[in-house]
Order: sequence, then structure tokens, then C-alpha cells
Amino acid sequence: MTQRYSKITGWGKYVPSRVLTNADLEKMVDTSDEWIVARTGIRERHVVGPGETNTTMSVAASRQALDVAGLMPKDVDLIIVATSSPDHFLPSVASEVQYQLGAECPAFTLTAGCTGFVYALATAHQFIATGAYNRVLVIGSEVISMFINWEDRNTCVLFGDGAGAVVMEASSQPTGVQSFVLGSDGSGGKYLKVRGGGCAYPISHEMIEDKAMYIEMNGRKVFKFATRVMGEATLQALDKAGLTLDDIDLLIPHQANLRIIQLAARHLGLPMEKVFVNLDRYGNTSAASIPIALVEALEQGRIREGMNICMVGFGGGLTWAATVVRWGQPAEPVEWPLVWRFAPTSHKVSMAAAKVRLHARQLADIASYRASSLLLPLYTFAGLRKPKNKND
Ligand SMILES: CC(C)(COP(=O)(O)OP(=O)(O)OC[C@H]1O[C@@H](n2cnc3c(N)ncnc32)[C@H](O)[C@@H]1OP(=O)(O)O)[C@@H](O)C(=O)NCCC(=O)NCCS
Repeated sequence: MTQRYSKITGWGKYVPSRVLTNADLEKMVDTSDEWIVARTGIRERHVVGPGETNTTMSVAASRQALDVAGLMPKDVDLIIVATSSPDHFLPSVASEVQYQLGAECPAFTLTAGCTGFVYALATAHQFIATGAYNRVLVIGSEVISMFINWEDRNTCVLFGDGAGAVVMEASSQPTGVQSFVLGSDGSGGKYLKVRGGGCAYPISHEMIEDKAMYIEMNGRKVFKFATRVMGEATLQALDKAGLTLDDIDLLIPHQANLRIIQLAARHLGLPMEKVFVNLDRYGNTSAASIPIALVEALEQGRIREGMNICMVGFGGGLTWAATVVRWGQPAEPVEWPLVWRFAPTSHKVSMAAAKVRLHARQLADIASYRASSLLLPLYTFAGLRKPKNKND
């Protein structure tokens, strides 16, 4: 069987127009632009305004991604949304996105903290590699501002809202996802947590007074964890792809803190020119940070055909993940082997035949039911109806 690769053929991003600068935060909590820039590298972040939700941002980013890929929503076989800040517990953001986009496909939401997008990319890759689907829309979207205690200077300076999306398509050429590694260490869950609002600590007056619906974080523990796993995961993903650090053209890390990124790059021995950073303008947008950075890197011409890109993330869980992607030319015509090309058509034909058979059987059953109800009084009248038991 021809090996199937998954290639990124479309990309898009959306960030709310409302900007919150460090100067704005100085008016809200005891902090300073100097402290925030020195400790994090963040200068401003975007937060949702009226009418903007996780779904609307996801849809906006997805429309761009589909445009770039030259696809219609109906062409998509599966939608995966990575998020930790859904609009509702039910329905999932992914189903809302599927409906509002006008797609006709399965959709699910995946949660792995800020690592979610790389988890989603790896999941989409598996669906494509196994032949289950040919085109998957992968979204990372967060309205993290809703889970921020705007009186807590330890967390409120770090995060921002936004969404990024990519289209992944089956390809017979060895481009796209070359490898991935996923990791989780639940023992560190307590270091980055929203304690309340779920089943363990449901919504109540007490929970709200306790401010348990907001993100709580042990910054130092997360910092140490992040600098360690970023380097390790990057090396593991490279190793799995049969590549070395010299083969990396661009590292796109989760945009949480410039110091974390610089330290991880230093540990790896990777020059900062090979590392993409845009957190100064967006802060940490959680699962949206890597796709937003990817889109900006493309817009800036930092990614070209044949380059090896490594995307590496870390976050709540605690989780981490890395993937190596070999960039293929976006406009390249898809040369799917004949059998793949006809597979959807033959599938549609056999499904249509199955539907016809199903409806024919249903009609036959209805007709026989109606006939028997019509004949029942005649049988009864003629004494032909058999008693069900001897007492009847
Ligand atoms: C949060 C973080 C920026 C703090 O930086 P740091 O250098 O570790 O700072 P410390 O935690 O040592 O705190 C130093 C002091 O600054 C204070 N401080 C914290 N936030 C502040 C702020 N916004 N403005 C001013 N002072 C602040 C602390 O209260 C502390 O004061 P103290 O010494 O009197 O107790 C850093 O730990 C970090 O980025 N951690 C990772 C967080 C992360 O990425 N989370 C998301 C993961 S997906």
C-alpha cells in the first residue's frame, strides 16, 4: 500500500481587535511594563470583545485556512478543535464550528492545555495516515481571558485570546508530518489548574467566593518543567524523524515566555535566528499560540518549501508535545494515487445503494404492516384469527 503522508495545505488565524497593553495592566494590578517585559517578553495581548467567542474565532481562522487550501467546508472530512476554554461544556466547540462553517463531517474537541494544538495535529495525522480521512481541519482556539482573575498579577499579565487553524491533507509525497512525540505527567497538574467549575468542585456560591473558576499557577515550577521538556521533546521528535538539530530550519515553540524559549534554545544549542517568537504582541494564547505563530512565520516568508519545521508545546496537565513537519509547496497539485481518488466516489455509490436498499426495506415493512392491520378485522370476522393461548 502507498504510504500516506499528511501535509499542511491551508492556514489562517484570528485575533480579537481589542488590545490590552502592559500600560493598561499597570492600571489594574500592581505591576509594571518593565517587570512584564523583563520577566516574560510580553508587551500586549488581545482579548475578546462583544460577540467574539471561541467558536467565532475558530470559524474566522478556519475560513482563511480553507481559502488558502482552496477547499470548501463540505470538502472537510473531520474537524478537531484544541481548546481549554470552550464556549460551553455541551455542545463542543468543534460541533458548533462544524455547523457554523457549513461542514458536513464529524467534529470533536480535544483538551491538552497549551499543548492541545500539537496533540490535535498528531491526531489528525493518524486519521490521515491510516486512510480513514483525507482532509482534516485542525484548530487551536482559546478565550483564556474568561478564566483569568484580573486581580491576580501572577497570571493576568501572561495570557491572551486568539485562534489559529490549519488544513491537513493526504499526500503521497514525503512532506508534512514526519514525526511526533506526546507526553503527560499528571502529577504536575496542581501547578497549572482551574480548581472549580467541573464535577470535582461544581459551581456554587462558595466556589465563586473561593475564586476557584480562575487559572492558578505555580510559575516557577511551570517554568522549570517547560525549559526541560521543550528541549527533550524537540530532540525526541527529531530522532523519530531521522533528523538532527542541524536539519531544523525553524523551531516554533509555544509562546508562553521569552525566557523559557531562550533557555530551551540555549540548552539545545539552537541560535535564536532559527526560533520563531511573536509573544510580545499576543502573550500566551494557550492552544492557539503555535498555529498563530505558524501562520505569522508563513506570512513573514520564514517558511519555504523543503524546510524542516519543529513545533513544540507544553502546558497544563502537565503535558508536552513536539512534531517535525517537512514543508511542501502549498500550490502543488495533489497527486493522489488513483485508488485514493476513486475511493470517495465508490464509497458514495455504495452508500447510496445501501440507502436505497434501506428505504426499500422500510417501505416494504410499512406496506406489510398496513396490509396486516387492514386484514386483521377480516380475519377476526371470519374466525380465522388464532387465539394467542388457550384462555383467549
Ligand atoms: C510567572 C513568571 C513570569 C514569574 O517570573 P519569575 O521570574 O519566576 O518570578 P517569581 O515567581 O520568582 O516572582 C518574583 C516576584 O515577582 C512578583 N510578581 C509576580 N507577578 C508580577 C507582576 N505581574 N508584576 C510585578 N511583580 C510580579 C512575585 O510576587 C514575586 O514577588 P516576591 O518575591 O515578593 O514574592 C515565570 O515564573 C513564568 O513565566 N513561569 C511559567 C508560566 C507559564 O508559562 N505558564 C503557562 C504555561 S502553558
